[in-house]
Amino acid sequence: MSEATPILHMLAPQKHMSPFDVNMAADAGYKVIVPYINVALEEVGPLVQDAIFSRPPDYGVRTGFFMGGKDAILALDMMDAAAKAMVPPFQCSVFADPAGSFTTAAAMVACVERQLKQKFNRDWKGTKVAVFGATGVVGFASSIISALEGADVTLVAHRGVDRVVKSAAVSKERFGVDLKAVAGETEEQKRDIIANAEVIFAAAAAGVRVVSTEHMAGAKNLLVVADVNAVPPPGVDGMELFMDGDKLPNSNVLGIGPLAIGDIKYKTESGLFKQMLSSKEPLALDFRHAFTLARQLTA
Ligand SMILES: NC(=O)c1ccc[n+]([C@@H]2O[C@H](COP(=O)([O-])OP(=O)(O)OC[C@H]3O[C@@H](n4cnc5c(N)ncnc54)[C@H](OP(=O)(O)O)[C@@H]3O)[C@@H](O)[C@H]2O)c1
Repeated sequence: MSEATPILHMLAPQKHMSPFDVNMAADAGYKVIVPYINVALEEVGPLVQDAIFSRPPDYGVRTGFFMGGKDAILALDMMDAAAKAMVPPFQCSVFADPAGSFTTAAAMVACVERQLKQKFNRDWKGTKVAVFGATGVVGFASSIISALEGADVTLVAHRGVDRVVKSAAVSKERFGVDLKAVAGETEEQKRDIIANAEVIFAAAAAGVRVVSTEHMAGAKNLLVVADVNAVPPPGVDGMELFMDGDKLPNSNVLGIGPLAIGDIKYKTESGLFKQMLSSKEPLALDFRHAFTLARQLTA
């Protein structure tokens, strides 16, 4: 591999590049990090070509692009635009992780998978998953990762089912997965959804309790509940920050808390940056690669 300085160009469609991701990239080993903000999709290709043609082809693997933002589909479109802009042998690596969602979702799915395997001798095939916060980036990515593994995934809408119906349609078109979309606005609707679920992904906004003890009272099939919200109150009643397969209070349901997930998320994001830094070939990394690594980390 060349001794060229590792440079990371970090693109955000909104007015900020995430300081979290800048720090992660620096700690993983990037020496020069340049954030670009308010980047439009059509600007991605020209920016990539501007970067790749400035360095000899063997320096390309030391040049990386990071796609941030807050929109999973836009980040994937930005990756596609970057791929189309490559002119072999002038190429570079690309990694998308909008709002940390791909690595967070990958970590959540991998942490739940470990409990399913170790405690129930099960995998994702046919496992009934209910996703709260399904219109968010973490909910969206976790629904696709688990559905690609064969889970039977239901997206729960908290204000109008139309947006989750749209998410399900996008997921079918882009990833070939069949997701169900249901309304979960009333207490009764939530109880019914949870009564049918074996796994819950609680991925609603920070500081929002989406699943209460009462919602889970009749949930005879429920095995594992994962919660990514670290801001009090917890997204799930009784969830503790570091729970990792412990029983929720007065229940046989296993809980996985936000900092158990966050630990794997952190290692996954850092690990993907390090893969880009050490690879001899240019890489293109999205939530699928994040899940592969998170799975290794939880094995
Ligand atoms: N543990 C970790 O490592 C880690 C890392 C990153 C993020 N997170 C956490 O992951 C969670 C999701 O993040 P995100 O970036 O995906 O957020 P997001 O894109 O803002 O999505 C938030 C989701 O929560 C829903 N929501 C908002 N208020 C709600 C309510 N009162 N009841 C039910 N649902 C509600 C939103 O629905 P609408 O679309 O209808 O508003 C949306 O589906 C957050 O709690 C965040 O702090 C954790």
